[in-house]
Order: sequence, then C-alpha cells, then structure tokens
Amino acid sequence: MCGIVGYVGHRGAADFLLEGLHRLEYRGYDSAGIAVQVNGEIAVRKKAGRVQELVGLINEAPVDGPLGIGHTRWATHGETTDLNSHPHTGGNGEVVLVHNGVIENYDQLRTQLQGLGYVFRTGTDTEAIAHLVAHHLEEQIKLGEDETSPATCLKAIEVSLPKLKGTYGLVVLFKGFSDMLIVARSGSPLVIGIGEGEHFVASDASPLAGYTDEVVYLADHEIAVLTSDRIQLMHRDNGHQSPSVHTLDQVSTDTGLNGFEHHMLKEIFEQPHTIENAMRGRLDADEATAKFGGLNLTLPQLRRVDRVVLTACGTSWHAGLVGEYLFEEFARIPTEVEYASELRYRNPPLGDRTMVFAITQSGETADTLAAMRECQRKGLATMAICNVVGSTIAREADGGVFLHAGTEIGVASTKAFTSQVAVLTLLSLYLGRMRHLSYPAGERMIRKLREMPKMIEQTLQCNDLVKEVAEKYYGYNNFLYLGRLYNFPVALEGALKLKEISYIHAEGYPAAEMKHGPIALVDEETPSVFIAPHGQIYPKVMSNLEEVKARRGPVIAIACHGDDKIAELADDVIYVPDVEEYLQPLVTSIPLQLLAYHIACLRGCDVDKPRNLAKSVTVE
Ligand code: G6P
Repeated sequence: MCGIVGYVGHRGAADFLLEGLHRLEYRGYDSAGIAVQVNGEIAVRKKAGRVQELVGLINEAPVDGPLGIGHTRWATHGETTDLNSHPHTGGNGEVVLVHNGVIENYDQLRTQLQGLGYVFRTGTDTEAIAHLVAHHLEEQIKLGEDETSPATCLKAIEVSLPKLKGTYGLVVLFKGFSDMLIVARSGSPLVIGIGEGEHFVASDASPLAGYTDEVVYLADHEIAVLTSDRIQLMHRDNGHQSPSVHTLDQVSTDTGLNGFEHHMLKEIFEQPHTIENAMRGRLDADEATAKFGGLNLTLPQLRRVDRVVLTACGTSWHAGLVGEYLFEEFARIPTEVEYASELRYRNPPLGDRTMVFAITQSGETADTLAAMRECQRKGLATMAICNVVGSTIAREADGGVFLHAGTEIGVASTKAFTSQVAVLTLLSLYLGRMRHLSYPAGERMIRKLREMPKMIEQTLQCNDLVKEVAEKYYGYNNFLYLGRLYNFPVALEGALKLKEISYIHAEGYPAAEMKHGPIALVDEETPSVFIAPHGQIYPKVMSNLEEVKARRGPVIAIACHGDDKIAELADDVIYVPDVEEYLQPLVTSIPLQLLAYHIACLRGCDVDKPRNLAKSVTVE
C-alpha cells in the first residue's frame, strides 16, 4: 500500500507532488507528506489525515523547490499520527525518504542502530531504513569517500539495501544534493517518468498523466539515480542497465464525479457501459464463440489445458468463484479458486496442463502478484484478468485480458467485479467452444450476453426502491446474505460490500448451508438478504427463506420481475430482470452494491474511502 511520488527538474515540485498524491490516494489515506529541497536544506511537511489536510498545511506554511518526494500512507507499523507520516528522516537530516512496503526485520535494525547512537522518533519500520542509509553514508565518508559526490550516496544505498528483509519501493533525498533522487525497488512498484530536463517517480503511472507518456518501469532489485537530465540504472546482480523506455497507452484521467455524490455510485451506474466495453470486439457471432487478442497461447496449447486455477483477493476472488462455476459448466474444465495469499505459500500439485488466471482490478495486489510469480516459476501459463493497463501484473503475466472498465476510484469495487464476471463468461464460452460446447449453445450465449448492457440498465432502475429499503434497515448491526449456485458468490460479494463501507457485520453463505450454523443468528434483529431469482433450484431457496421467516428473521429478497410469490413471504423485494442463470451475477450484484451504498450513506460513512482499507493492497 502507500503511494509515493518524486520529482527532479526545473519546475516547483510541490504541484506535481500534491496532485500525484491525490491521484495515488486510493493506495492509502491515513496520512500524507512531502519533502522538498530548498537552498540546500530539506523541508518536510506531513500530517495525519487525507492529502487535502496536507494541502491545507502547505497553504499555511508553503514550501517549493525543483526537487522533492511525497507519500500517502496506509499504516502498517505505527499509528496514524503526524510523526509517523512519511517522509522520514535519517541521521541528523542527511537522508530523507519515502517508502512503500514492509520491512520485516525493522526491529532488529532499530536495536542495532540505536546501539550506534541513532535516535528513533517514530513507530514506523521506515525510520530504520532512513537511519540505516544515514549510517552507511557516514561510514563511506569515514572510509574517505567524497562526501560531495553522488557516488557516495549511491554506495550508501547499495550497502544498505541487502540488509533489508521485506519489500520496498523507496525514493531518497540527500541533504545538499539539489539535483538528485535515488529510487530503489524490491516488491513494491515504481515507475519513472521521463520529461524534458526533468524526471518523475510514482507508484503507478496515474500521477504522470499530463506530464509525460515516456516511462521506465523499475524492476525488482534495480536502483536508479535520477537527475534532471539523466537516468543511471543498476541491477543488484547485473550491474548497469540501459533503461527500457515504454510509451504509456493513454492514462485515464476521468476522475470526476459527473454529478454523482460519490465515485462508488458513479461507478455502479457506469456498469451498462463497462460491461459493453468488456465484451467489445470479443464476440464472434459467425463462429459462435468469443475471441481474445492477448492470451498468447496457440489453439493446441489451449486445448491441452485440463485444469484451471483462478487466483485473486477480495472482490476479485468472488468474481473467480463465479468463474469456477462458468468454466466447469461451459468449458467442462476442472477449476479451482485460490486465495492468492494462500496459493503463494502452498505447494499444490499443478501439472503442466494447468492454466492460471490472476484476477485483479489494480494489477498491483501483492499477494496476487506473488501467487502469479510462484506459478510462473513452476512453468505454468499464467494469464491476467486485469483492469489497469501497465500495472505490474499486466506486464508480468504471460498473456491476459483487460477489463476496459476505466478508472475505478471507489475503494469498494463494483464495476470491476461485473467486468471480471463478463470476461470470465466470455472465456468459458471460448474454452467451451473449442471443446464440448455446441454451435447453437454458443450462439445463444452470445445473444444473451449482448442483451446484458440493457438488462443492467433496467436493473439500475431499482435505485430509488433500494434507497427506501436502506432507510428501513440501516440501523441493524448484523446481516446474512444467502444465495445458491451462481448467486452464492454474489451473496459473499454483497456481504463484503456492506462490511467494507458501512462497518456492519455481514456474512455471506450458500443459502442451504445456513442450517449448519448461521441460522442460530436469525432473530428479529438480523435481516437476511436472499438472492432468489428464478432458476433450477428456486424452490429450494424458497424453502430456506421460509426457514428464516419461521424464526421471525426480516427478509429482503432479490427476485425476478413478476415473482409475486416471494412478495408474500419476504418483507421487502427488489426486482431484477429475468436473465439466464449463469448471467444472474451481473444483475443480482447490482442491488446489493446499491444497498451497501445507501446504508453506508445513511450511517454517515465515508463511502469512497472507508476506514482502514485501501484500493490497492501492495503489502502482504
Ligand atoms: C482491496 C480492495 C478490494 C479489492 C481487493 C483486490 O482489498 O479494497 O476492493 O477487491 O483489494 O484488489 P485487486 O486490485 O487485486 O482486484
């Protein structure tokens, strides 16, 4: 987590740094800070709270200069205080740095450095890096190295880095070096932007939009020394490197609210378009299949696949669960869904005919990246289903499919989920058609998929009703979400949405599993949200619903238009269009997104930036 930025060049750095921090705030918003080199001194401004608070502080006490670094924090070590905010200072202010990642041996380093006389002022792991670099700078100078030479600073970094255990993206300023930034990466992403007589650094490319489209992605174990007109790049094992410059595909800067009160609501309402974008150019009506440009596997290779592993975290993991049902039903390929945080440390037997999909909105989730790399190490074909072009996972995967959902800003993922489900549906069609799925079945899927943007548009008309339902239920403190088959993952996702943004305890379960425990929670104070559209086991879900009613549990049902029977049983019904069962998650998830949204608003929660969370989880 955490977003970092840096600038060296000819303009005042503060504007770029603050704008960049705003754009990176999705990575954490516990505190923010910048450091700018002014007349040979490094001035630091930092504050707990949002970037906007920092802007207020800088308005009161302005700083600017052509060299600077900035940070927006998601706290890992140390509370969210002004003092624990980055940048952190090492020694007597010789070194000032920002850090993204976690240093696992910080305690040991702290003890060693305290023994050498370094005074720690914060509760962070990062301060240990700052003092460590300051210590090795001092050592280099004692050894007779030139204290005015950038090479001495670089050496101090090179000696320090092997002593760090854990992950880092670092941007370091050295006092008195008014035209130099040193950046280093191991496990946390960094991208360098190349301008005319200036260089930029950021955790991802979004802060660079409008400044440059020429970038160098730093690889793990690389260090770069940046001056206004030069990049010097080194790899720990391979020495000097020539930077490989990429041109950014249009970085989306559509970050406005377009009249909506929150990004989350805007993103929910974008879903008719985002689903359309996920399918655009990928439906082949002549062959009754889907087509993909980026899987980078031949047809014989794809036909050999006898097992699929879908790995992801959070909402993307829920999309993976829908994918499991789809792949097994349409492609008839045994499929498993693995939490990336588990897969990375497990050692399941995976044959060379296994295909792995890493599903991720951001393309930066640390666990998903690590799980993908682990699978690559074992020689498996790994694909990314990803939204952010240029992200680490998108770049490192062997192939993949982009969601084309546009920037998702709300921390609670909505449109990315439905786009992931749409892409997984297309993949199941594609893999199915090269195996057992018939032409008419493929043709029908395409016809039904093409109707989905319209169906989602119709579903969104439930918004006013969902708001009324939210007004009735927002005071409850426990919810159950229950659904079966394709709507079981939707139940999990609905519960997650409510937890994330309204801080209400909610559990998702396969409706029939309720009898094995959760039913003990049912009483007048625990509403159950039943996802019960028409389908093969609709009567079974209705029985589960009756079981809840028999115990006086309030019931909110998500049902198909025209289902009058459910209205007699449930306390409240939200109707959605009747679509094929495998397409139901694309509509049934929407009222649940809206329900969580309205409940969170009524409870006065910060919908787009819920407490303790971050959009992109770049630590494990
Ligand atoms: C965080 C976000 C979730 C997201 C998850 C996985 O927890 O708050 O909304 O689902 O990370 O993120 P990814 O970018 O890999 O889909």
